[in-house]
Amino acid sequence: MTLAPLLPSSPGKFPIADYKPLSNEELAARIRKGRQLLGKRLLILGHHYQQDEVIEHADLRGDSYQLSQLAAASDDCRYIVFCGVHFMAETADILANRPEKLSRRGMRVEVNLPDMAAGCSMADMAAIRQVEDAWEQLGDVVDSRRIVPVTYINSAASLKAFCGKHGGIVCTSSNAAAVLKWAFERGERVFFFPDQHLGRNTALRMGIRNEQMPVWDPFADNMGGNTDQAIADSRVVLWKGHCSVHQMFRPEHVTQFRDRIPDVKILVHPECPQEVNDLADVSGSTSKIITTVEQASPGTKWAIGTELHLVNRLKQQHPEQEIHFLSPVVCMCATMYRIDLAHLCWSIENLVAGELVNRIEVDGDTSHHALVALERMLEVK
Ligand code: 13P
Ligand code: SF4
Repeated sequence: MTLAPLLPSSPGKFPIADYKPLSNEELAARIRKGRQLLGKRLLILGHHYQQDEVIEHADLRGDSYQLSQLAAASDDCRYIVFCGVHFMAETADILANRPEKLSRRGMRVEVNLPDMAAGCSMADMAAIRQVEDAWEQLGDVVDSRRIVPVTYINSAASLKAFCGKHGGIVCTSSNAAAVLKWAFERGERVFFFPDQHLGRNTALRMGIRNEQMPVWDPFADNMGGNTDQAIADSRVVLWKGHCSVHQMFRPEHVTQFRDRIPDVKILVHPECPQEVNDLADVSGSTSKIITTVEQASPGTKWAIGTELHLVNRLKQQHPEQEIHFLSPVVCMCATMYRIDLAHLCWSIENLVAGELVNRIEVDGDTSHHALVALERMLEVK
């Protein structure tokens, strides 16, 4: 079968409403068929927090760092369908369409996010205007040429571009310590956004004290709610942002598990608050969480503090181990969950028909500067 040539962007030949009533079995069969028709032209990337029925269709899966590497290495494909959230698809667009790739390939890799409502509430906690305003205010008190801006990858492309322009870098949960080390080799202080917890947990392990890490509240009237002295004494200025999923894990959950199961091991994501992170046996990215469980001996007991879909999948895949969810309440990422089989099938069947729905394309100037910070990230591991 010859596929129709791809139109630049479109509302779709087939409306999403047609897909909503279909059963998962039918959607899965049609997705498989669409993948077969598109062959190597289609690359489906999936983050570990995706639902089981969705991640099953991913060609490759990973944490944010690995997914960035995979997008950067994507040579054969024409389209990336990103089963994850908006900032991940933006990052894929920037990395897959680097100037040297574009000139070699002669055409763009088009990136689709199956549901545009799949954002990240943490990324939304820092807007570029707020970051620029904070930078200006910081510059009134300390030498901004000696501040290295570090943005967590969970942020809009504009913040990554800001870091690229100001000698900064992007970090992920898997290379945050190496990135902070990189930053301190280049400056005397770090401005870390948008996740205060990842910034604090990582810096504490490097020996930086809480008193040296003021929190910048973008809604405070002046200096992010800090005194000039606190900023002058700072090593890391932490943005007041958090993940609404990971902040649900509390230190008392750890204590309750330890009381109930004395030999339990606590495994958490570094987006959890400091009080939880400090009590954990292991803290790491979603991939580190997976490999830690994979490598453990049968009979190991775990209480895991990260998104529910990943913990439930680990439970199913490792019946030889005893796996618990760390919180008594459901903590799931509502935006990751937006990607369902209906949206995936809709995206793929429209591609087969030559129509690209929900295109993610970062503008040229933002892309150019964000790439500087992303390439630094990929070099630091
Ligand atoms: P990872 O990079 O560890 O997969 O984390 C991404 C994320 O959004 C965690 O909430
Ligand atoms: Fe964003 Fe938290 Fe969801 Fe990760 S789990 S994508 S940080 S809202």
